[in-house]
Amino acid sequence: MTEIIEPLRGMNDVLPEEARWWQRLESVARAVFAQYAYREIRVPLLERTQLFKRAIGEYTDIVEKEMFTLEDRDGGSLALRPEGTAGIVRAAISNGLLHNQRHRLFTIGPMFRGERPQKGRYRQFHQLDAEAFGYEGPDIDAELILMSARLWRELGIGRVRLELNSLGTAESRAAYREVLRGYFQAHERALDDDSRRRLVGNPLRILDSKNPALAGLIAAAPSLADHLDGPSREHFDGLRARLDAAGIAYTVNPRLVRGLDYYSRTVFEWVTDALGSQNAVCSGGRYDGLVTQLGGTPTPAIGWALGMERVVMLMQELGATAPAELPQVYFVLAGAGAAARGLEIAERVRDAVPGLRIETDLGGSGFKAQFKRADKSGATVAVVLGEDELARGVAAVKPLRGGGTQQDCPLDGLAAHLARAVAAVDGEGTARQDPGR
Ligand code: HAM
Repeated sequence: MTEIIEPLRGMNDVLPEEARWWQRLESVARAVFAQYAYREIRVPLLERTQLFKRAIGEYTDIVEKEMFTLEDRDGGSLALRPEGTAGIVRAAISNGLLHNQRHRLFTIGPMFRGERPQKGRYRQFHQLDAEAFGYEGPDIDAELILMSARLWRELGIGRVRLELNSLGTAESRAAYREVLRGYFQAHERALDDDSRRRLVGNPLRILDSKNPALAGLIAAAPSLADHLDGPSREHFDGLRARLDAAGIAYTVNPRLVRGLDYYSRTVFEWVTDALGSQNAVCSGGRYDGLVTQLGGTPTPAIGWALGMERVVMLMQELGATAPAELPQVYFVLAGAGAAARGLEIAERVRDAVPGLRIETDLGGSGFKAQFKRADKSGATVAVVLGEDELARGVAAVKPLRGGGTQQDCPLDGLAAHLARAVAAVDGEGTARQDPGR
């Protein structure tokens, strides 16, 4: 027997039953992005590895351990993108979008990280990502957070709460880094290998360690909040005032440092208690230094990304609705003549009733088998076309749900009849006939 090729660990197939939740998330998100004047940008999945090293930071888990890299034809190193921000900044610079301009952008797509897969953590996962360039004040920070809060409301998602922190400017963080280095050096014997390496490279990253043995040491470390510079404090207070005014609840978490190096000032995370240990559903922050760091003209910037797998799980667990996708009308075509005419008649109904979901039983099986499939399909009505019906210029319409008896319907009135029959059971507005036809 031929051997089956196994799927890759941490890379999921999204089957049709699941895909309709994704479609709902995506369509709601696109509508919300449009409400805030965010425009779509699409960037490559593959970039030079150097881009991510420079943007995300050499000592981060992502760059140290998780990137999927491959060799380019000329020997250079390429990487599958582990996140969206670096590529969008690269694209904004490459395309000259950042000369005294402001942009609100979003992208939707797969990201790749070689993490240990578990519930809510995958090697190919998907992000909805929003980024704003050219806005300096805390009002854009607030608006981005309001936009994410609106998304939760539109999706019917509760059980998420917001955590905030400020990382200060590059300068104040550099000063804090030295304070931290001193603290962890004094406890060097208690550190693990990763942390010892980071002590030299970037001691801030130790705060991000997931090693439970270090939790106590990290909890007692000096706090960034005590080393914040004045303008950053003002910025943070401005953001908090706007969130308070908008009625958005949050907690300030001074240990929130984020797993990527490019952040400055505001960082935030929406977390949930509904998904186990992978509790961050949407995270982001300001990265005012990144554009310059990647060779562009100085441009303030901020954004967030939401993990689509995690949000889909939340939608399912918290009872949000997915759009209906079962057929409403099922065409049973009995005999060769009906099979040929059926296609054409179904096309005419589709023309006349846009939005009506019609499944046509193709392939010429026996009448009984077709009827069984019609019953199982979830459709509201079956349309039966046999030689006898065609000879009389009618179709037999049989209600499958909602009661009623089978009736003959003249073919030229079929579309209107089906629109009425489906709307009567599925609810008004689900299948209205196009008035122009
Ligand atoms: P991040 O925190 O690394 O930030 O990822 C953002 C979100 O992606 C997380 O909150 C989580 O929901 C989801 N996520 C991350 N890794 C995985 C995984 N292995 N499996 C499933 N979901 C995952 C960023 O990526 C930044 N680029 C966010 C940002 C945009 N900051 C500014 N602009």
